[in-house]
Amino acid sequence: MFQVSFGLANVFFAIVVVFAGTRILDYMQYAKQTGYLPGIRSLVTPISLFGVLFPTSRWNPGREWQWQWRKDVYKRHGTETISSLPYLFGGPAIYTSSLDVARQIVAMKGEFYKTKEMTAITLVWGPNVFAANGDEWKRFRRIMNPAFATSTFASVWDETCRGFREMFVGQGWDGLESIDILDISPLTNKFALMLISSAGFGHPLSWDPRTPGSKTMSFGEALHIITHNLILRLVVPRIAYWLPIKRLQDIKEAYKIVRVFLLTLIDTRRKEFAAGAPAQNDVLSLMILSAENEGHLSMTDDELIGNTSILLFAGHDTLAMTLNATLGFMGLYHEYQEEMYQEVLAVMPTSAEFTFGNSRKLRKVQACFLETLRYFLAGFMWIRDTAEDIVLEHVGPNRDQRIAVPRGTPVVVDAIGLHHNPRLFPEPDKFKPERWYDAPESALTMFSLGTRVRIGRRFAITAGVCFLANLLRDWRVELLAPHGESRAEWEARYRRA
Ligand code: HEM
Repeated sequence: MFQVSFGLANVFFAIVVVFAGTRILDYMQYAKQTGYLPGIRSLVTPISLFGVLFPTSRWNPGREWQWQWRKDVYKRHGTETISSLPYLFGGPAIYTSSLDVARQIVAMKGEFYKTKEMTAITLVWGPNVFAANGDEWKRFRRIMNPAFATSTFASVWDETCRGFREMFVGQGWDGLESIDILDISPLTNKFALMLISSAGFGHPLSWDPRTPGSKTMSFGEALHIITHNLILRLVVPRIAYWLPIKRLQDIKEAYKIVRVFLLTLIDTRRKEFAAGAPAQNDVLSLMILSAENEGHLSMTDDELIGNTSILLFAGHDTLAMTLNATLGFMGLYHEYQEEMYQEVLAVMPTSAEFTFGNSRKLRKVQACFLETLRYFLAGFMWIRDTAEDIVLEHVGPNRDQRIAVPRGTPVVVDAIGLHHNPRLFPEPDKFKPERWYDAPESALTMFSLGTRVRIGRRFAITAGVCFLANLLRDWRVELLAPHGESRAEWEARYRRA
């Protein structure tokens, strides 16, 4: 008996020693791989299953460290580019809040690419432009780019006006003096969805887009469930969806609803073209027409669904979130709200002048939208892997060092860190729309940099500016503090969001 226990103890001890030994060796290897950059040292790294499943803490930076630690993580390490190394689980990664380093990473000249693991949540629907690299990415963009032209943005403006009106009528707000809204997000989500569907896919939806065939869930609810359960969908095995667990059943139903929506959308448009409908310039039509071609540009059915879904998800959630946050800042800073209102009055005094053509003159309204975006960044991690051994420049305390980074190292632009970097945005915690007055398009780094930028940028800005201009024409945004919160308490809660 004693011998058996002693033997087991030995085995256990040996396992612990071997495990500890491999972890130490791995740690040393990871430190070398990331150029001995200082940074986050934790039990688990953010880019790992544990990392995304558990909340941010000292031992697990998790999904929110960029936001929660934005004020001091780079300051503490005295550099704008840091590493993250695990003691126990996960792999190493380099994170940067430096614009120079970010430019190298997203330059996409082949040295940096997006891995299948990091884009898996989008690939559930099929190959798509967001997840693609190299020639595949070029092919997708060649098909899609013409849809993101001035004529589309004019239609975004008109459709935003239509959606805004429909929202007011649909919610029964017409003729009211004031409206109390406790949670604006279901409304802005629905609005953004209608907009992407009409201006993006040439498929107008009415204000209450309940999906035929589903009595349990609206289309908007289905999108909400999907966007809030992306990780769960990836990690839970398919077989578990047969279990009577409400959350899993809801996810299953949500994916079904969106899939049916996408297939119906594509099928209807195909039939219209087959019946001789004239070619249109919305992105869905361009993708379908390319699929009909036998040429080198054509998109397969899977790619068509993948790309339609990425436009839906990349477009609607980011826009809705930014609108919500802009309304919050408008409620907090009446002086800016008043300036925006005066600008709308001056630029668009009559309905005839309320046009897309005049919208570029709304520089203060646009600046308010952009400053909100800088503050609460909608797409906050731009993750790449190195496809070959590279040299990363402009690192170290004085941004004058170079480090060798071997192939296969994750390199991440921390877009929150970048847009809260005090060297680039002095007093980053202050809401200062004037940072964006007359800023050139190239300065709008919130929409990424380099060649992968642009596709949704003007779409989102046009929609955001138009929504705000419509609102400001007739309404004033005030804070509602239902639990007797003071303005300071409201602001603190809002800024933690
Ligand atoms: C506030 C609004 C938006 C923000 C902040 C935003 C931000 C971004 C960022 C940062 C990326 C690059 C991510 C990376 O490189 O890993 C991206 C890519 C993308 N966005 Fe947006 N976006 C917004 C709105 C939209 C809209 C309205 C659409 C479509 C109608 C859209 C469609 C896309 C697509 C298709 C990609 C992938 C492009 C590519 O890789 O070539 N986005 N977006």
